[in-house]
Amino acid sequence: MQDDNTPDIAGTPLNLVDAAREVLSSNDRGEYTVPGAKLYPHQWLWDSCFTAIGMRHYDVERAKTEIYSLLRGQWSNGMLPNIIFNDSNKYRADRGAWRSWLNPNSPDHVATSGITQPPMLAEAIVRIGDKMPANERRSWYKSVWPALLAYHEWLYAERDPHQEGLTLQIHPWEVGMDNTPPWMAYLAEHQLPFWIRAIETLHLTGLVTMLRRDTQTIPIDERFDSIEIMALFDVQRRFRRKGYDIDKMLHHSLFAIEDLAFNAIFIRANQHLRAIARTIRKPISPELDQRMQKTEAVFENLWDECTKQYYSRDFITHKLLKQPSVATLLPLYAGCISKERAATLVKMLENENTFGPAFPVPSVPVDSQWFKPMKYWQGPTWININWLIIDGLERYGYKDHASALRDLSLELVEKAGFAEYFDPITGEPLGADDFSWTAALTIDLSKQS
Ligand code: GLC
Repeated sequence: MQDDNTPDIAGTPLNLVDAAREVLSSNDRGEYTVPGAKLYPHQWLWDSCFTAIGMRHYDVERAKTEIYSLLRGQWSNGMLPNIIFNDSNKYRADRGAWRSWLNPNSPDHVATSGITQPPMLAEAIVRIGDKMPANERRSWYKSVWPALLAYHEWLYAERDPHQEGLTLQIHPWEVGMDNTPPWMAYLAEHQLPFWIRAIETLHLTGLVTMLRRDTQTIPIDERFDSIEIMALFDVQRRFRRKGYDIDKMLHHSLFAIEDLAFNAIFIRANQHLRAIARTIRKPISPELDQRMQKTEAVFENLWDECTKQYYSRDFITHKLLKQPSVATLLPLYAGCISKERAATLVKMLENENTFGPAFPVPSVPVDSQWFKPMKYWQGPTWININWLIIDGLERYGYKDHASALRDLSLELVEKAGFAEYFDPITGEPLGADDFSWTAALTIDLSKQS
């Protein structure tokens, strides 16, 4: 164990950090950490990145292992899957639901999903590197560089096919905010497959709810609607039938969205990619360089002057999807917007009728018709999103706002435990308990930067 000597922020009880480490150790499966023991028994992409960001404070080697174990799942075309499945017999059905082996690019020794998740990898690599002396950092960067570069190149090759600058996502699981309003509104505009309509007509939705794994331990009010979840599984099944070939998937997906949160995170990841390349003197091809510049340049097209917010966009029609969500604040994390825009976003954070209730930051503004304080990504506060916003606030110079949000986040965890998400009005814990990224980012937030 290598404990760092960074002092905890004044007021953070040391036992909160100890308790967080216990959560991480109970979710540790040797080379990777599961997000939650009961509900999430596999390895998830952005979860492991957040987990490593916390672990680096007390065990840099273990944090590196968390990242190396993610890379086991990389496809030969560069894709990093959102899930690498646990290889125990118990989870044969989970692996079989995806059957990643149908695609020739999938890895030989592990079963994975066939879609990705927000590109937090570069951030995790840099944060771990920050804990090392310069020569060690260079070796670390060199060891992960080929995989990181291949991932960013894959995102451009497959997810920006028209070279317009923004990447597209084909399933809400790729965004990590599964039932976020813009995606659910998009779903509602499309006709559901006949078998789902039949279940609805025959009033069998309650039966489906009973059979779900998540509702065995968590009340349905805190989760996805069963009709919506069936629709998402149906899209996933279509992808499998097409062997995860991008052209065929695009043709058969319900969804083709240039997601705001995903692209904001990608922009930051590109900045980290450049910094890593400079440190280890690796060239970035002129083509990749131009594409990265273009992403930043066209990002402003997601701004809507009328409502003064950023939104996700339909990939085909370029229509903005104007259901508000916390994603509108993530351009702060991207770091590529003007100071004026950043100030507008900060005002929204201060407003108690939108993003500033007692336990911020809600995943949907409280004055939206979509707001449901307990329902997954339609209202609850998530610590990983707070972490991204805090980082953005710091870099735009809003130090006081950053530290206020950091304190509130830590208070919330202290009061409610390491829940998956929290009611932004009452602070009640929701979803799974002993959730890894809540624990890991509690450790990170409790250390001075
Ligand atoms: C849920 C979350 C997603 C997360 C996964 C594992 O699906 O919406 O963001 O990665 O759980 O924790």
